[in-house]
This record gives sequence, structure tokens and C-alpha cells, in this order.
Amino acid sequence: MTRKILVTSALPYANGPLHIGHLIEYIQTDIWVRYQRLAGNQCQWVWADDAHGTAIMLRAEKEGISPETLIDRMKVEHERDIEGFLLSPDNFHTTHSEENKYCAELMYEKLRDAGHIVRRTIQQLYDAEKEMFLPDRYVKGTCPNCKSPDQYGDNCEVCSATYAAIDLIDPVSQVSGAKPVLKDSEQLFFAASHFTDMLKEWTSGPAVQDEIANKLKEWLDNGLHDWDISRNSPYFGFEIPDAPGKYFYVWLDAPIAYMASHKHLAQRTGEDYLKTWEPNSDVELYHFIGKDISNFHCLFWPAMLEGAGFRKPTGVFCHGFLMVDDAKMSKSRGTSVTAETWLKFLKPEYLRYYYATKLNSGMVDLNLNLDDFINRVNADLVGKVVNIASRCAGFISKQFDGKLAPVYAESLQADYDHFVSAKTIIGDYYEQREYGKAMREIMLLAEHANTYINDEEPWVKIKDENARDEVQQICTAGLNYFRIIMTYLSPVLPELAQKTEQFLNTQLTLDGLAQPLVDHKIEKFKPLLTRVERTQVDKIIEATRESAEASSDAGSVASASNNKEASLEPLKAEISIDDFSKVDLRIATIVDAQEVKGADKLVQLTLDIGIEKRNVFAGIKSAYAPADLIGRKTVMVANLAPRKMRFGLSEGMVLAAGPGGSDLFILTPDEGADNGMRVK
Ligand code: MSP
Ligand code: ZN
Repeated sequence: MTRKILVTSALPYANGPLHIGHLIEYIQTDIWVRYQRLAGNQCQWVWADDAHGTAIMLRAEKEGISPETLIDRMKVEHERDIEGFLLSPDNFHTTHSEENKYCAELMYEKLRDAGHIVRRTIQQLYDAEKEMFLPDRYVKGTCPNCKSPDQYGDNCEVCSATYAAIDLIDPVSQVSGAKPVLKDSEQLFFAASHFTDMLKEWTSGPAVQDEIANKLKEWLDNGLHDWDISRNSPYFGFEIPDAPGKYFYVWLDAPIAYMASHKHLAQRTGEDYLKTWEPNSDVELYHFIGKDISNFHCLFWPAMLEGAGFRKPTGVFCHGFLMVDDAKMSKSRGTSVTAETWLKFLKPEYLRYYYATKLNSGMVDLNLNLDDFINRVNADLVGKVVNIASRCAGFISKQFDGKLAPVYAESLQADYDHFVSAKTIIGDYYEQREYGKAMREIMLLAEHANTYINDEEPWVKIKDENARDEVQQICTAGLNYFRIIMTYLSPVLPELAQKTEQFLNTQLTLDGLAQPLVDHKIEKFKPLLTRVERTQVDKIIEATRESAEASSDAGSVASASNNKEASLEPLKAEISIDDFSKVDLRIATIVDAQEVKGADKLVQLTLDIGIEKRNVFAGIKSAYAPADLIGRKTVMVANLAPRKMRFGLSEGMVLAAGPGGSDLFILTPDEGADNGMRVK
């Protein structure tokens, strides 16, 4: 029976690029969706950008553009990366859309009319300078519990206490630096407490992984609190229909955009999308998410759906986080790799395959070990899979005019059947999101195929005029194994699968495998995949580190600027005079400045500091033409540990202020300051 399935991935925030952490989820979704389509099910994947909220509003303000301009630009970038990584959503929409406004209002009105929305006046921290109420993450102060300074408004990173922002001692606005005041404000709440019993039952059922259910149990046993779904102006989002000046909280309309993206898709397909969302729908609904957002998807979202008279998800598929070489992704270590940077140096399928070998249905973090990545991909894809084809194809095209054997050798039929019957277990593993196990099964088949070819030695037999038919049989079997293996791998390696279809001159389908390819003309073999080299991986890491350096160069001394955006950057933690005196600041003359080939942001400076000359790569190209810098004096950090960059050694840093882009200003000393003088 053909199943009808609707799949979603979590919506990436529209204020940053997609990175290899996001890609765990998006590749996991894509493999599952492609597998469902391969298995003959009707499977749609709807997705979108998450474009609302304070962070996006402030980021746009900082760049001096409207939020709409920012989110439009990010959407183009995200779509480019989605295509680049061969992700195949049926629709990629945005939360800031007509359809989402419609669906959010519909959901809200249904909840309100059913008595699940309550209004209450609460006290909130208000930034009088910026004239805005402050979200929790935009206030810092001293923890009311353990008295640690510099803690966010929602929880303490030192003692893990959770509290309300108004309980912080000595709060400071992170937006303006002002001391916030308490102000009354009426807010709208979703009465999540009405759904505690329903959620207790639902989370202990098959829709939710046990690990998540256990985590949520604590919340549910204490009874759910009402959830604040409104935010005061200024806010980038949808104004609430019957509450002027109040906006839907970004986390209210974000999951609703699953429905809105589906509505938008239905305009093309003509389907009645709402039927999918009705309580007795025959469509299965699955959400792929990371473990950090499970409470939204396993508590608030199903409660909203239920309260508004819609169906609940069939399953929420939660995954763990990415680690690179056993550590969290880090900009300074160069492991916070964007999708864009990856694609500059390596094909998407290497990462897709490596993630597939590592993914399972649980929530443990996934470690991308760079050496293991290189070995794995080279050994499996190049050494095992593609190797099967390259060892057999030459004989077929040179000796047999590109034709496979007229009939399949009977003695080989049992082995062929064994390869085909593996589709059940491999299919089950895909279905259960046990991709690692699926990859292992497939690689066993590939090993088997290679052993067969090794044992048969077609390169020896071809010298024997009487063994020609046998060689054709062997190579026909080898290429049939390759066809089966590539069919199984096609959800993971769609581009390689497509090239295989061209090469074998056939479509890769599960049903097609019932009959081996015989008496069939294939195309000339072209190399399908090359080995990954360590230098390519090094370039990815270096390019990532470099762009992090370029942006930290630009922002490191923002407090020296009177530019209004710079005031948005919070002050760093206090340091002692001893800390300061460790920094050796020197007056330097820029004696040479050159473009750096292949670097978007860097200028190579030669700095004279009296005692010696220094080579420094500075991320200031967006603001200065190199020629204009020659002869100027500036200030440099002269005792910064040298850093090896892709273009050479950088021996220090020049001071600059400003938000970045063309608004970047290198510091110039007053007249009379001379090379090498220490700045105290
Ligand atoms: N906008 C929200 C989701 C709204 S869904 C209605 C959000 N965005 S996000 O950009 O921060 O994350 C998008 C998805 O990527 C989330 O499921 C998140 O868990 C996942 N990941 C983000 N960084 C990740 C890693 N480093 N590792 C694995 N998954 C990661 O949350
Ligand atoms: Zn604390």
C-alpha cells in the first residue's frame, strides 16, 4: 500500500548561514525522504526559513537594512546551499509569508475561541533608551541564586538555576547598556496547562522517543505553565489580530509554518492541504528536529494542534548534536564550517555519506573526526563501491562493444538473489533511521562483490581466447552488483546515482532489481568519484578560521567607536590592570599593503614597529584599498602569538573599530607618535 507522508525539518534561523551542524538534520531528513520516494511512497517534505524575532530585527538594524531585506538575502543563500547539498524539499518557504500569517491567525483564533488563550498583565524589563521590552537573552545581571555576575535573564550558566529576568540582580540591557526598568505590560498566554493529561499520554506513546519522553516527564509531572505567546512592539513578526501593538512570539508562528509551507506547496499541486491536518487524516506527519528544541515540538506544538482541532504528529524524530574532532564546533578552531565553505573545496556527497555512516535513531551526539572522515569515504566509496564498476567496465566496453552478457549465468543467480533480498533489511534500516546499519549492510555487499571479482581475475582470463564468454559473465555480474549497491545508496548519494544511471543506461529502482541487466548496452565508463585529500579538508578548516579572524578583527575593539551600531555590542568581562599590561600595543607604520589572492576579506600588511618588521593579515579589505593604507600609522598588538594561516604566518593584529563591512576604521595615533612606541 502506498503510504502518504508529510515530512518537515526544523526551520533554520534567517540570521545566519547554514553550517555542518544544521546539515546533520537536513541530510538526515533528505535521506529518509528520498528513501520513501524510492520505496514508492508519496512523500512530501515541506520546510522554510525562520525569519521572525528580536535577533533578526537587531541584526538587520546593525547592518543598516530592513529585516525584509535581510531575510530575503538569507533565503537566497539558504536555497543556494540546499541545492548545493542535494537536499530535495518539495517546498522551502518562509515564516514571513502570507500563508503563514493566514495559518497563524487561524490557529490563534481557533485556540482563542476554544478558551485556550488568556490575557494577563505582567511586569517585564524595559529598556527606556531603546524603547523596547527586553527578551530574556538580551538582559544580563547577577544570578539571584549563586550571585555569579554576567548571567543571562533566563538561566545561570554557573549554577544552572532558572529564573525570570526580573529576578536578576543589577540587570543591564545588552542592547544599549542601559539599566532596564520594570514596566507593566499585558500579554497573551496559551493555556498549555489544559493539555497536561493529553501530553502525558501522547509523549509516552510511539510518536516520541523514550529519551525525550523521560526528559519531558519532569515538566509534565509538575504541570505545564501557561506559555507567553505575545511580544511587544518593536518586534519583527505578525501583529496579533485583536491585540494591536502585540506580536506573535517567533516560536508560535515557526512550527505553524510547517502548515503554511504545505499550504504554499498546495497552490502548485492543487491538493487540499487542510485535509492532511484534520484529526482523522490518513497522512503520516513526521518532524525532524534537534534535541535542543524538543519541548517546542513535543509539548507546545501538539498542544496547539489539539487545542485548535487539528491532528497531532505521527512522530517527532529527534537527533543529537554535531561534534568535530570530539569538540563543539568552534570558529577559532575553524570547525564551524558553513555549507558554502564546504562546497568550495569538497563535494556534498562525501559529507552526506559520512553522516549516513554515523546516523542512527537515537539522540547521541555525532562526531565528525576529520581523519576518520577521509579514511572512511576513500575506503568505502572509492575503494569499495566505485571500484567495482571501474574494474569491470573497461572489459565490457573494449572487448564486448559495450554489451553485457546475453543471459545471466545460472551459477551466479543465487548470489544475485542474495544481493536483491538485502533490500528488505536495508529498507527497514532506512525506515528506522538506522542509516549507519544500512551503510554497513551495503558495504558488506560491496566487499562481497570485490572479493568475487578478485577471485575470478577477469584480467587474467581475458588472455585466454576460450574464456571470453566467461569474462563477459563475470563483468556482467560485477556491474549488476554495482547497480544494486548504487540503488541502495541512491538516497544518500543522489548525484552518484544519477551518473550511474547514465553509465548503465538504466533507471535505478527497487522493482527493477528483480531482473538482472543482461543483453544491454552500457555507456563508456568515466571516473565517478575521486579520493578526498587531506589538503582539501585543511583548506576548509583554514578558510573557516580565516573568516572568523576577519570578523573578530573587525569587532574586537568596537568600544572605541562612537558608531551607533557598535553600542549594540555588550561590554566584555572586566579585566585587571595586570591583564591589560600583558598586551603589548605598539605604534606601527604600514610600509606595505597588498591584496591576498583567494581571500575575500584579507589585506597583507607589512608593519614597521621600529625594532622589526611584521607581516600581518588583517580582515579590512571591505573598508580599505591596500594602496590607501601605505604610509599610514596605526596601532598593533605586537605580542599576539603568531598564527599560521593559509596564506602565511600572521604576526600580530592591527586595531580597528566598527561593525564591519565598509564601516570599519583602523586606529591612527596622534601626530608625533613614532614607530615602536609602546601604547600604555
Ligand atoms: N528556528 C528554530 C527552529 C524552529 S522549528 C519550528 C531553530 N533554528 S536553528 O537554526 O537554530 O536550528 C535548526 C535545526 O538545526 C534545529 O533542529 C537544531 O537542533 C539543528 N542544529 C543546529 N545546530 C546544530 C548542531 N550543531 N548539530 C546538530 N544539529 C544542529 O532552532
Ligand atoms: Zn547562579
